Amino acid sequence: MNKLFEMINLERHYETPAGVVKALDGINIEIHEGERVILLGPSGSGKTTLLNCLSALDSPTNGKYMFNGNEVPRNHSEKMTTFRRENIGYVFQFFNLLQDLTVMENILLIQELAGKKDPMRAEQLLSLVGLESEKNRFPGEISGGQQQRVAIARSIAKKPTLLLGDELTGNLDTETSDKVMQVLVEACSNEEITAIFVTHDESLVKYATRVIRIDSGQIISDEKVNTVL
Ligand SMILES: Nc1ncnc2c1ncn2[C@@H]1O[C@H](COP(=O)(O)OP(=O)(O)OP(=O)(O)O)[C@@H](O)[C@H]1O
Ligand SMILES: [Mg+2]
Repeated sequence: MNKLFEMINLERHYETPAGVVKALDGINIEIHEGERVILLGPSGSGKTTLLNCLSALDSPTNGKYMFNGNEVPRNHSEKMTTFRRENIGYVFQFFNLLQDLTVMENILLIQELAGKKDPMRAEQLLSLVGLESEKNRFPGEISGGQQQRVAIARSIAKKPTLLLGDELTGNLDTETSDKVMQVLVEACSNEEITAIFVTHDESLVKYATRVIRIDSGQIISDEKVNTVL
């Protein structure tokens, strides 16, 4: 498989009144197309910071980030937005659904921004995550777990190159979590979507082809696993 992206000695420092926080402290990583990575690490270890740099929501302080052979834009909001629209699906730790749009409209908007409007696919995805009857409701009118499933359907609605999930099953019961992970894994393998899922939940390792552990902004282990699915 081809190399999708590479980070070399990537660092992200935050200046705080108490001093510099090295949220990412020399990340070296190379991911190939089709890999499904589970990223594990304790609270505060740098997981969300890493996803934000990967998705060009945030700019690293030092180091290199190449995606499909090109340097990823940084410190330039417009170019970063274009990169995200073209390449990235992101399920945020706190969902980030637009409250004034219905469930369906949230999904259609993302497709539209990526120039890939496809109402049929939007319907199918909502039904796959078990939310077809909620499609005309607003995020404020459904439960946290349901909002999470909308965010998951939305993240793959435009067939991103790279799917990023931050605690994406954090609010779901085990049964729903397994169902949703199966939908995601199937979508990823059918549509050749590369995925990185951040979690505290070791039981999600069974959905991965690779497990990376991070602590204090550094990768402490990186292993390929045999997916049981
Ligand atoms: N905006 C910020 N300003 C200063 N420090 C920050 C900022 N955002 C994150 N940090 C610090 O950077 C480190 C990494 O934070 P990050 O949010 O990436 O952790 P995380 O692994 O996602 O944790 P969690 O599992 O709790 O979500 C932490 O020490 C955190 O306090
Ligand atoms: Mg986090």
